[in-house]
Amino acid sequence: MAPLCRSLVTFVAIALFSCPLSARAHVVPALYVFGDSTIDAGNNNFLNTLAKTNFTPYGIDLCGKLPLGRATNGLNYADFIAEHLGLPPPPPYLSFEDQESRSKVITGMNYASSSCGILNHTGTRAGKCLPLSEQVDYFENTVCHDLSRQIPIKDELNLHLEKSIILISIAGNDYTLGYLLDEKMRMMYDITSYTELLVHSLATNIKRMAELGVKKFIVRGMPMISCLSPFFKVIKQQCDELGKEIIPSYNAQLVKSMDSLKAEHGILYTIIMPEKIEINTVAAEIGSKFTYEPCCEINEFGGCIKDSEPCKNRDDYLHFDAAHLTQVFHKFVADRCFDGTSGTCKPYSIFELSAI
Ligand SMILES: *[C@@H]1O[C@H](CO)[C@@H](O)[C@H](O)[C@H]1NC(C)=O
Repeated sequence: MAPLCRSLVTFVAIALFSCPLSARAHVVPALYVFGDSTIDAGNNNFLNTLAKTNFTPYGIDLCGKLPLGRATNGLNYADFIAEHLGLPPPPPYLSFEDQESRSKVITGMNYASSSCGILNHTGTRAGKCLPLSEQVDYFENTVCHDLSRQIPIKDELNLHLEKSIILISIAGNDYTLGYLLDEKMRMMYDITSYTELLVHSLATNIKRMAELGVKKFIVRGMPMISCLSPFFKVIKQQCDELGKEIIPSYNAQLVKSMDSLKAEHGILYTIIMPEKIEINTVAAEIGSKFTYEPCCEINEFGGCIKDSEPCKNRDDYLHFDAAHLTQVFHKFVADRCFDGTSGTCKPYSIFELSAI
């Protein structure tokens, strides 16, 4: 099937580069990344928003200590999954100056955007971010205008897309910023119908991606909301109550929805199981000394204070700022999901998904 393409204006931005990871044989041709600050690699650097993390101490453990825009001290789990697949960290889509330089990258791209979510209006109070539908617009541009330049033979492009992996890590902001902190939404929707809306919109976007030719999806389930963030001080009780309902409800609906997409559109999927990446579970497994205490000095929004001195023993912490996790957590998720023995990704480990 030919990718379903339509025209889209190209975006002009400034190029960045990150340090190379160890090279390995390519298991899959590319990793395409969608989501929020859990895996944003720097798209928000190029947007007019308060939701930015491109200053120290973010990125302090990256090679060169460059704060490239990730909301953690080092790499995130999208980067570590890429490394397992023998691919470089997928660069932020908006970081390229022009189509010429962007279209040279055929090993994957990162479209994730901090503060955004599945729904169009989620997170927009902080400024501009890329909601999932806009991330998929850019992916469409990648497929139809960038990849097609490098891989002009249709069958080869189709094979590239079929073998590539899509990673989606989203929905947290739809619950925290879009529901908990937005009274209007809570009046319009109860938690069940809001969750249905989220899962339905997610499926609409996944269907669009499938129509462009991709088949293999990794979708992160929704882990417990950490209601200890200063954001939720005033609504801590509601946050705790909602948190208990979200996990079973969102995750059950997510699996059902992915099963329908599998039946109707022939996709393959695996879910990063939320109970396996629960903060307390991970803390116990890796022996973290500090579970909720942030490593950096935080401001009133829960982010790191610009240019402040972070904790020294960063591998002993799970939270880097009040809302975002440290590199050790990200590496744990990627390692466990790649290797099938722990059941962190179900029904397939990423290794199995890549080999199909
Ligand atoms: C979200 O915005 C896009 C345009 O950017 C639009 O095509 C889409 O229909 C919107 N989605 C919803 C659910 O309103």
